[in-house]
Amino acid sequence: MSNKLVILDTMPSPSEFYGTYWNRRPFVVRGAISEVEMSGLITADELAGLSMEETPRSRMVKTAGELQDWKCRFGPFTEEDYETAGDRDWSLLIQNVEQFHPDTATLLRHFNFAPRWLMDDIMVSFSAKGGSVGPHIDSYHVFLTQGEGKRRWKVGREAVEEEVYIKGVDLKVLEQAFEGDEVEMTCGDVLYVPPKFAHEGVTLESALTFSVGFLGPKTSELFSAYSQYLSEFEDLDQRYVGEGLNTDSSGFTLSEGAVSDIRTSLEAHLKSDYFTQWLVEFFTESSHEDFGSYSKREEMLYDDEFEGELQEGASLIKPEYVKFAITTSRSGGFCLGFDSQSFTLDERLFPLIHMFMKEEVVNSKSYPDLFAEPAYLEFLLELYNHQALEFAE
Ligand code: SIN
Ligand code: CO
Repeated sequence: MSNKLVILDTMPSPSEFYGTYWNRRPFVVRGAISEVEMSGLITADELAGLSMEETPRSRMVKTAGELQDWKCRFGPFTEEDYETAGDRDWSLLIQNVEQFHPDTATLLRHFNFAPRWLMDDIMVSFSAKGGSVGPHIDSYHVFLTQGEGKRRWKVGREAVEEEVYIKGVDLKVLEQAFEGDEVEMTCGDVLYVPPKFAHEGVTLESALTFSVGFLGPKTSELFSAYSQYLSEFEDLDQRYVGEGLNTDSSGFTLSEGAVSDIRTSLEAHLKSDYFTQWLVEFFTESSHEDFGSYSKREEMLYDDEFEGELQEGASLIKPEYVKFAITTSRSGGFCLGFDSQSFTLDERLFPLIHMFMKEEVVNSKSYPDLFAEPAYLEFLLELYNHQALEFAE
């Protein structure tokens, strides 16, 4: 078997990652994450417990000898489902586990070199020996991180251009065979698979797999969300009144000038500062089940209570499941998005926000300027009261 799959000992540096692999080439990192750290993530029993709840989106996939006989059922599941599942050839998959099990979200720290603002979710699967969801492609970039157990993966060498799925199966299983390389993964190994690269995992010893997915929006999703945003501001959502039309546009003819004017007006919306501001809001829109959009925590703090806690040495941290997006602002400083809100901030706040983005602990020792300006505390309190920050234990 020729093995073209790159096997690394450590995660690639950010420049290697974007220069060589991102969107282009799969790779495996052996022992990228320690077994101790992996053992702190959700366990198989906890995952089964989650699958019995109403909210998490869970699926059970039963592999069969003939591909056409594959079965996929959606949760919630019961004790009986597990009693009758047998000890081979099935998988349980649950999406957005980082929202239901915050310790599992700590895994995200290992993927800070990837665009965290595109992070979609951590899907976790438990699979019995022989368990597989079949050969398939995904729309997202995925880092398949092996927990307990052992799996054999086959991964394609290029993106599939025209996928054909087996008919009559309520699961997207590729009909066509694909060329690829095989690798066995054990606890702490990470396999990066770019979008549309075929892959298939088969369980050798009952296993947990953590799929950290990064997914970009479709053009239509961007346009429709931006339109929705514009529609909320009357002055940004002006009607086209045919300004400057002449006889070239009479009757049923749109003159070149009319087409160009409409295009220019749309371009102006894309080139504006509010477009940039909207983007950081868009990329941080919460899909968190327990949070509404920018919702307040039940037990909000007043500024003197908040300051008191910090003066007494309390530390703040951004939990890993909280998504930030930042970009430089043309009017100076930078723009921070969180949970569909945006804040234009002074560049002096950048080191502080940077610490939160690295999920570092912030207190008056690690950030001596914490009390330098009342506006800093005001801003941190705003984030805290909207559940972007927590006190570290
Ligand atoms: C699995 O864990 O079996 C499926 C993960 C994937 O291929 O995306
Ligand atoms: Co996949």
